[in-house]
Amino acid sequence: MNIAVFASGSGSNAQQIFEHFKQHSAVKVALLVCNKSDAFVIERARNFGIPVLLITKDDFQNEWVLLSVLKERQIEFIVLAGFLWLIPPFLVKAYPDKIVNIHPALLPQYGGKGMHGMNVHRAVEANKEKESGISIHFVNEVYDSGAVIFQARCAVEGLSAEQIAAAVLKLEHQHFAQIIEKIVCP
Ligand code: GAR
Repeated sequence: MNIAVFASGSGSNAQQIFEHFKQHSAVKVALLVCNKSDAFVIERARNFGIPVLLITKDDFQNEWVLLSVLKERQIEFIVLAGFLWLIPPFLVKAYPDKIVNIHPALLPQYGGKGMHGMNVHRAVEANKEKESGISIHFVNEVYDSGAVIFQARCAVEGLSAEQIAAAVLKLEHQHFAQIIEKIVCP
């Protein structure tokens, strides 16, 4: 099974996924889709010999362009790993329950438009939450609202937003690739 990773930032989660499936007998990361030309994730993909599609907003929203690239690469499953654009409805329809996202909080809390990265951790700190964590969920047409597949928690009482970010990222690295494997190789 060929999977595509969509990412637009540093790509530390993408890196874990590339590593995890590097020698896998049934799953191959066959494409990185990225929307920022200077994103570090591009270099990470190239180090693994993974093809990169750098995409513009127009092409991302163009059904014919995006679906034909995914078809050409025989992509059957999509992983969002720090990808911030809303997934267009045509892509959700083409990949029903075949797109997953990781979110750095315990959904349904701290989800929705604008809730990504440090914005999430600053809000968790400001609200003096005792716990935060990660959510891995299926993707639908609305930000962060598809069915939750997996959550893991960590204590964050008294931590700064930066410390919360580090604790949550550690959980992401521990779990994401394994959960993807469980979904695609049940
Ligand atoms: C991750 O923490 C991921 O949960 C978050 O972006 C970060 C990407 O880090 N995603 C969102 O906030 C989506 N709403 P990475 O580039 O180092 O993998």
